[in-house]
Amino acid sequence: MASCPCLNSSMVLSKPKQPAASFSSLDFLNSQHLSSSSSSLSFTASPISGVRCRSRKINRRYSVQVMASIDKPRKPLKIMISGAPASGKGTQCELITSKYNLVHVAAGDLLRAEIAAGSENGKQAKEYMEKGQLVPDEIVVMMVKNRLSQADAAEKGWLLDGYPRSSSQATALQAFGFKPDLFILLEVPQEILVDRVVGRRLDPVTSRIYHLTYSPPETEEIAARLTQRFDDTEEKVKLRLQTHNQNVESVLSLFEDITVKVDGSLSKEDVFAKIDSALSNLMEQKNTTLGAAAT
Ligand code: AP5
Repeated sequence: MASCPCLNSSMVLSKPKQPAASFSSLDFLNSQHLSSSSSSLSFTASPISGVRCRSRKINRRYSVQVMASIDKPRKPLKIMISGAPASGKGTQCELITSKYNLVHVAAGDLLRAEIAAGSENGKQAKEYMEKGQLVPDEIVVMMVKNRLSQADAAEKGWLLDGYPRSSSQATALQAFGFKPDLFILLEVPQEILVDRVVGRRLDPVTSRIYHLTYSPPETEEIAARLTQRFDDTEEKVKLRLQTHNQNVESVLSLFEDITVKVDGSLSKEDVFAKIDSALSNLMEQKNTTLGAAAT
């Protein structure tokens, strides 16, 4: 960690946990998020592109990405992201958490962790997942509620991925007091989805999501260790799509007033630019509201 005088004294530069995404960090820096009211600012910097740092100690070119902890509103963001199988939820969550430092809670990942642990819930869940069906609420609701209740999610804010998938799941979460600020829906034509699922690969070491064609691994070493999900076959994705189509409208109708629909068929960078803009606006609104309440 090193402080950089080209920023203000309370900002800190640090190396990124993962490679910098290709979005314009400067837009964010120039925005009102970097208000004087921000008290504990911190930055992730990488030697890729962006800001020239004039520090004697740091005589390198840095791309400064603003993390939520930098300019975290006193009320953290609470976001839901939804979309068909392989619409890009996980991919966008990687980019969103990298910039906004939200706690990523993915219902599918929680279920796969239960399967890997060999728990009774995991065994039951796998039967439904194999058939592309929704895992019963008795298992999913408490799993998600317990994760969102942890201190890090309350402090940093959360990004809920793949939940709720039915009106009963939405209602249950609301009853526990978890209310989102924004509901992001990724829209992708079905013919693209099958291709994305079949080519998807996961890195068990970094948890990064790859695609053999659209987002290939950077090195031979990574390529050699990639794995495929048990439900990533053409046959199973068609069942998952059916389940999604049966439920999506009932969920959407509950979040209509806070829904942002994003064209998920664009490049992942372009999709992120749209989400980023929506989140920046939301943060601005939240900060303005808080500022007005404080005066
Ligand atoms: P889950 O794990 O959530 O799967 P899903 O909803 O089917 O979504 P995916 O994870 O398959 O896709 P994604 O949208 O994250 O896409 P990704 O970014 O990886 O759920 C699995 C199962 O668990 C369910 O079927 C159900 O049984 C159960 N379950 C989960 N939640 C539940 C709940 N709430 N209630 C009950 N049951 C539940 O991208 C896919 C591929 O496309 C990747 O290879 C990626 O590199 C590529 N890609 C991404 N974006 C782009 C782009 N813009 N351009 C080109 N390629 C792209």
